[in-house]
Amino acid sequence: MTAVVVERVGELSDQDLGDLSDATDAAILDGNGFGWLRPPDRSRLRAYYRGILLIPERELFIGRLDGTIVASAQLWRAPRNNEAQGFSGTLTAHWVAPWARGHGLARLLLQAVEARAQALGMTHLKLDVRASQDAAIQLYEANGFKHWGTLPAYAKIDGRMVAGRFYVKKLARKHKNKAIN
Ligand SMILES: CC(C)(COP(=O)(O)OP(=O)(O)OC[C@H]1O[C@@H](n2cnc3c(N)ncnc32)[C@H](O)[C@@H]1OP(=O)(O)O)[C@@H](O)C(=O)NCCC(=O)NCCS
Repeated sequence: MTAVVVERVGELSDQDLGDLSDATDAAILDGNGFGWLRPPDRSRLRAYYRGILLIPERELFIGRLDGTIVASAQLWRAPRNNEAQGFSGTLTAHWVAPWARGHGLARLLLQAVEARAQALGMTHLKLDVRASQDAAIQLYEANGFKHWGTLPAYAKIDGRMVAGRFYVKKLARKHKNKAIN
């Protein structure tokens, strides 16, 4: 049976960083590289992830298939000076390597990010996605994200403008467990 696990990570071993970079390359080549149009060279990719782990307002989640990192997502919080928007977070860079799709990793990552946002006291989670990403749109809409707007000039890919869809989800309030213990 295939073991499917998601976790929030504060550090990455060299092996994990290599696997995450391989999976990121594949996700970029597949056509949605959270900004990158072509895979950057390996040292830049490793530096990118090391940087993410250093930024307090960014949290990295990874998905493993039989122990190997094959998927990822990030939760971005507003910077501390932006107190007015501290109630919301942004889900971004949410992808699964093409060879690892269909095992439920994307949904598990989404649930992990939502749970973390709630634990941090956030009441809203935002995201935006290229209008061409049908699978992701299906996933977000099926999980309670409301489409509130579309930006026609969202991303420029091979000289062609692609629209982006913007979503927000109101998170259920996290009740404190009143049970003794
Ligand atoms: C979207 C994506 C993350 C889904 O990954 P996945 O591991 O296959 O997803 P899961 O197995 O967890 O499936 C969860 C749900 O996603 C949706 N989904 C997944 N593949 C789909 C497809 N081919 N067509 C339509 N919906 C699909 C469904 O709602 C599915 O739920 P269901 O199985 O109950 O129908 C993956 O296709 C991907 O990485 N796409 C490119 C990156 C991207 O678009 N990211 C979003 C913006 S950053």
